[in-house]
Amino acid sequence: MKVQWDIETAEKGGFDHFMMKEIHEQPKAIRDTLSGRVKEGVVDLSQEVGLTPEQIKGIEKIHFVACGTAYHAGLIGKYVMEDLARIPVECDVASEYRYRNPIITDKTLVVVVSQSGETADTLAALREAKSQGARVIAITNVVGSSVAREADDVIITWAGPEIAVASTKAYTSQLIAIYLLSLYFAQVRGPKAVSELSEIVSHLLELPAKAEAVLKQEAQIAQFARGIATSEHLFFLGRGMDYAVALEGSLKLKEISYIHSEAYAAGELKHGTLALIEENIPVVALATQHAVYEKMVSNIQEVKARGAKVLGIAVEGNHELQKTVDEVIHIPKTIDLLAPVLTVIPLQLFAYYACVERGYDVDKPRNLAKSVTVE
Ligand code: G6P
Repeated sequence: MKVQWDIETAEKGGFDHFMMKEIHEQPKAIRDTLSGRVKEGVVDLSQEVGLTPEQIKGIEKIHFVACGTAYHAGLIGKYVMEDLARIPVECDVASEYRYRNPIITDKTLVVVVSQSGETADTLAALREAKSQGARVIAITNVVGSSVAREADDVIITWAGPEIAVASTKAYTSQLIAIYLLSLYFAQVRGPKAVSELSEIVSHLLELPAKAEAVLKQEAQIAQFARGIATSEHLFFLGRGMDYAVALEGSLKLKEISYIHSEAYAAGELKHGTLALIEENIPVVALATQHAVYEKMVSNIQEVKARGAKVLGIAVEGNHELQKTVDEVIHIPKTIDLLAPVLTVIPLQLFAYYACVERGYDVDKPRNLAKSVTVE
């Protein structure tokens, strides 16, 4: 008997592609990134972040700096850190930051986010920030990487090796690291009640199981993705943190399916993009943020009225959105602040199935590299 297998097939663990394996590894990656960092409702990063309580209280500004998917994690960081710790945050792509003369003082904390820890622009931004006196924290997936070695403090995302060029489990793990850091700072700076923070921590700990639940809707997402696979243009819409997730969903789709897509803050539609909405244009509309839900529904109605074919993403228990859109995917209930970890998963699956339907190489998209170590 001859057994047909090779190392790569074995490494894919029964999945057709690394990307799909990595999408399914997210509950574990989230659990592992949380592990050992939360004790009795309190986040403890004191082993990893060497800042004293006085130094944490003295931070005047945070800059999140990163590239690609890691940049999109940084965008979520702006919402989360500002909301929880009330520290003003800017988020920059590293290739802009390093050349734009940002205002950096010794009260500036720079958080660089990099899966590989080797991205040339991110490393250069880190060096620039340090040379101007900032303290630098690295959020990275690779212990001993250049970024990890050169930063003052390192928070490792325990996502495990990510092989597919399109990043999935690294992104959700980066979000977890950002939640932990924001909660840690919030505990020290005290803008919110301790009970409120521990409530958020308890929701955070429920995310691995909820991510499992999202993955169960794979068949429905695959069906919608196959239905739009011949389209050449697609729009992602969202408000608030849903907008930041929309940017990541759009990047995923572009990277592997080569469908042109754009993500828009839904309130901006009327300032230009609405002109591009015509009969049968696919739109993915994210409606998980309660504070802006009604506004989002009116934006969806605007695109529906012009003939768009809409896939909505809503929170479990919402029986209303399906009346407005063509198809709805529900994410499990959580607090708005944590929803991005769950909302991004249907978008990753959507990009995956669109790519497979179009017959492209999922794990090695054209012109792209997993780690960009030159400028
Ligand atoms: C490349 C990859 C992206 C990644 C980006 C940043 O472009 O294809 O998936 O998001 O680099 O990589 P890093 O390792 O710094 O997170």
